[in-house]
Amino acid sequence: MVTLRGYRPADLDALYDICLTTADAGNDASAIHSDPQLIGHIYAAPYGVIEPEHVILAEDDAGVAGYIVGTYDTPAFVAKLEQNWWPALRNRYAEPSPAWTAADRQRVAAIKQPEAHPASLVASHPAHIHMNLRPRLRGQGVGTQLLQGWVADARAAGVTGIHLGASAANTGGVAFWQRSGFEPLLPIGRSIWMGMDLP
Ligand SMILES: CC(C)(COP(=O)(O)OP(=O)(O)OC[C@H]1O[C@@H](n2cnc3c(N)ncnc32)[C@H](O)[C@@H]1OP(=O)(O)O)[C@@H](O)C(=O)NCCC(=O)NCCS
Repeated sequence: MVTLRGYRPADLDALYDICLTTADAGNDASAIHSDPQLIGHIYAAPYGVIEPEHVILAEDDAGVAGYIVGTYDTPAFVAKLEQNWWPALRNRYAEPSPAWTAADRQRVAAIKQPEAHPASLVASHPAHIHMNLRPRLRGQGVGTQLLQGWVADARAAGVTGIHLGASAANTGGVAFWQRSGFEPLLPIGRSIWMGMDLP
């Protein structure tokens, strides 16, 4: 039995863990990171902390097993990150650790200089999202339900378009987004930026 619900502060560890264990093109990234929180600092935790009202969680009997997070206004969210999120992390990761893996170093670099969302895409599709489910929840329509819930709330709030960045290596994820109404708009490096209009 899967329930969808809003975010509570006690869900933060689940956001971090689901992010890490689904981050390697949909697979577990634990083996490539020595610091298990680095990836969640970027793609999951700040959404729960800064915009908890835009998080929907999927929970089953074993606990929280999936989420969709995002923001309706990407430039405003980027500004909030600069103000309230990155400074503490930049202090925490100021000194390189000999334990860091290549993947850790890449994420620390992204904390110090976050990847910019393409300006043209932000202009046409101001909202953005991330969605990750643990394997046990996949392939049962839960991702579709989470997305539909998020889109319905965004539409009601007057959002006109949503974008997301997917790893080109994540063929399953990209197939899901295309099946769900997102069009590939900008291929940049190893990312595919996709968008969906909300007419
Ligand atoms: C991608 C993800 C969010 C999809 O959620 P889901 O609940 O498994 O997807 P659904 O069951 O709602 O599937 C909806 C449709 O997408 C298709 N789809 C879902 N996953 C797919 C995959 N891996 N490959 C191809 N198609 C897929 C389904 O076949 C279904 O199409 P149908 O209605 O024609 O049968 C989920 O699998 C996931 O979290 N994966 C790991 C993390 C990830 O990759 N996130 C996206 C990062 S960009």
